[in-house]
Amino acid sequence: MLTSEEILPDKPGDAKETAIYGTIGAVVRIDEMNGDTIVRGENANVLFRFVRDDIVRVKLFFGDVPDTAVTPAIVEGDRPGIQTTVEEKDGQIVISSGQLRAEIGTRPFSLRVLNANGVVLMDEQSIAWDGKTQVAFSAAKSAESHFYGLGEKTGFLDKNGERYEMWNSDVYEPHVQDTDALYQSIPFLIHFEYGKPAYGLLLDNPGRTTFDMRSREDRYTVSTQAGELDLYVLGGPSLKDVVMRLTDLTGKPYMPPLWSIGYQQSRYSYMNQEEVLDIARTFRAKQIPCDVIYVDIHYMDEYRVFTWDEKRFPKPLAMIAELKEMGFELVPIVDPGVKKDPKYPVYVEGVKNGYFCRKLEGDIFIGKVWPGFSTFPDFTEDSVAEWWGDHHRFYIKQGIRGIWNDMNEPSVFNESKTMDLDVVHSNNGKPKTHGEWHNLYGFLMSKATFEGMRRNMDGERPFVLTRAGYAGIQRYATVWTGDNRSFWEHMAMSIPMVLNLGMSGIAFAGPDVGGFSHHASGELVARWTQMGAYIPFFRNHSAIDTTRQEPWRFGEQVEAICRNYIGERYRLLPYLYSLFYEAHRSGLPIVRSLVMEYPEDRNVYNVCDQFLLGESLLIAPVYRPGVVSRAVYLPEGVWYDERSGERFEGGKHVLADAPLESMPVFAKAGAIVPRQALRQSTGEASNGELSVIVHTGGGERTSGRFVQYEDDGRTYAFESGAYRVREWRFEETEEELKLACGLAHDGLADDAAQAIVLEFLHVAAKPREVASVGGAVVEWAYDSDKRVLRATVRLENAFELVIRL
Ligand code: GLC
Repeated sequence: MLTSEEILPDKPGDAKETAIYGTIGAVVRIDEMNGDTIVRGENANVLFRFVRDDIVRVKLFFGDVPDTAVTPAIVEGDRPGIQTTVEEKDGQIVISSGQLRAEIGTRPFSLRVLNANGVVLMDEQSIAWDGKTQVAFSAAKSAESHFYGLGEKTGFLDKNGERYEMWNSDVYEPHVQDTDALYQSIPFLIHFEYGKPAYGLLLDNPGRTTFDMRSREDRYTVSTQAGELDLYVLGGPSLKDVVMRLTDLTGKPYMPPLWSIGYQQSRYSYMNQEEVLDIARTFRAKQIPCDVIYVDIHYMDEYRVFTWDEKRFPKPLAMIAELKEMGFELVPIVDPGVKKDPKYPVYVEGVKNGYFCRKLEGDIFIGKVWPGFSTFPDFTEDSVAEWWGDHHRFYIKQGIRGIWNDMNEPSVFNESKTMDLDVVHSNNGKPKTHGEWHNLYGFLMSKATFEGMRRNMDGERPFVLTRAGYAGIQRYATVWTGDNRSFWEHMAMSIPMVLNLGMSGIAFAGPDVGGFSHHASGELVARWTQMGAYIPFFRNHSAIDTTRQEPWRFGEQVEAICRNYIGERYRLLPYLYSLFYEAHRSGLPIVRSLVMEYPEDRNVYNVCDQFLLGESLLIAPVYRPGVVSRAVYLPEGVWYDERSGERFEGGKHVLADAPLESMPVFAKAGAIVPRQALRQSTGEASNGELSVIVHTGGGERTSGRFVQYEDDGRTYAFESGAYRVREWRFEETEEELKLACGLAHDGLADDAAQAIVLEFLHVAAKPREVASVGGAVVEWAYDSDKRVLRATVRLENAFELVIRL
């Protein structure tokens, strides 16, 4: 933080536009090269490659031949014969696919990207460089422009007016609006304007880059400090399309094991095995559902990864077995720093085989982290990644199925806070300096970890949590948002942060619930737990020497609130797990900003204190102390307060009651929400009670749809068909309610024709008749006080329930 003295009064103003030395100049020639188009300019060249119909790669290069290699962020795959045409007319070059058109002006070079209908997506673009290393790309923005994505950034949802750096940094403090960079760098921006098609821009450069939507009113600029400019323009038209395209390009989120979607409890640190077991037993004794306990750095022998401290954890195997018995998984932290210690086999092996990062001159890079002087594996090298991954057998043999990667920016206790920039990563014979590839270090560590775990887990799904990452990290790991504080402001900020992570391809993310450092109050933990119950990654974690933060530390009221909301998470699992699968298939976020679902509604472009879980549940957390009611914006349509059943017409704000025990949640008319009975862990045997809640329109024409997904929650058998997909459809007219259920895929061995309770809410009067086509209605009853119709049915392949009103 600056002092007053450092804010010098005579400092030159902030017009620090980069001096421009070079531009492409006039176009002199175009060449075709294996389906790519190369536009040759006076001073530099540009490669155009359609990766898909709706994604065009634009790469500036200076030599004769472009390097078309991609970073590990990209899963481009084989290009499935994309047809492009190149035309020259009226002094322009037009390269088109079926979906996108790049219009290149030739005197001098300029570029616009349009969709197939001729609507301009990206306008007035320019490329320039400063003669040293910095290359800047800018494009038009308007007063109506809104920006989303950019991964894990502080501030509000809409990034217009902000400027950020991409440089993975261990920022213990502060996480405030002028913090330029945090742990993750996702150099991906979505441009959105009312009534126009959205587009995305991925700058695939894992060095230091800048996204500036602040300095100029009519343009935004992205710039690099090392390496060439390698951009991908992704066509929409919708925000959802753009996110799906991003995850076509950088990969879909991994499908995690079900247990990792349950509630998780952590502390820096649970100091010994008795404490870990005690925490687990307390959860069960207090009947607060929980699936995971974490062990932080104190489990290790002087912070040596792949070891246990034998005094604190003399019997890890027995501890893990007892935890499993109680329905818990144990997740240990693994940092990249390997203690420099000639008696430590991991260090010795790494040195002998040349596995650690080296400076240009050949010396191993040594940096201080928790273990003291340490070395760092060079994960860019496949053999090193494999070696590291296989070391996880140490944990797997003991029954561990999940790993927590931390400090992998990498964080180093020195002035630059990271590895020296002149370290040279071998990268399988294509060396890169650390300066060029810094932002990939954590990504590659988690990739090695995930792949190593998967390789050695006999068909079971691993869970990997990471602090650092780059575009594409969703393929290998879940992201938590690092060292936040037990501040109300940090709880509030985590909402847009997680929403923008979702719009950057990272669906499985969340903050430390309750806040990591500083001291939580009971009220904060209660409110944060209420919100966390609806956020994909749900872990309570807190730092050494801070107030303890387990749900029962603040008296009975807070404990009861936590029990209730954590319990609600477990009841909602069938809904939530289906959304995880949707994310895995499509890349769409699990929690969504309102703008994703209601892009036509100008009121929602910067809503930072509400979010949607899937399409139909709207969550409105309370994020200030002492607050017992709050304004909630309901988009168009009919909405119900989940607790009271009260009905609201959307398109306006409503005032929702929110006493401490309760957080406003609204369900949209037409919502279909599968739920299950409460359980204490995801693995607890089901008592078969599955229900599907239908929020009817209460007499108004309404429709809804939900795709419900089930599998064994544990293995990769789903990849070979062992899963079940039910497609629910609801239609309401004045005369009847119809709920149809189709079995779109039935690859599970258990009986699909199970009994299930269907609950239709807001039904005005007792129906005349409840009939079914296919399946059988076992019984039904109408509760006139609650206005609920409950029908127990046996589901069969194609099933339709018709309720005559
Ligand atoms: C870092 C992590 C934090 C962890 C601590 C000790 O600060 O972000 O989550 O508890 O290191 O390992």
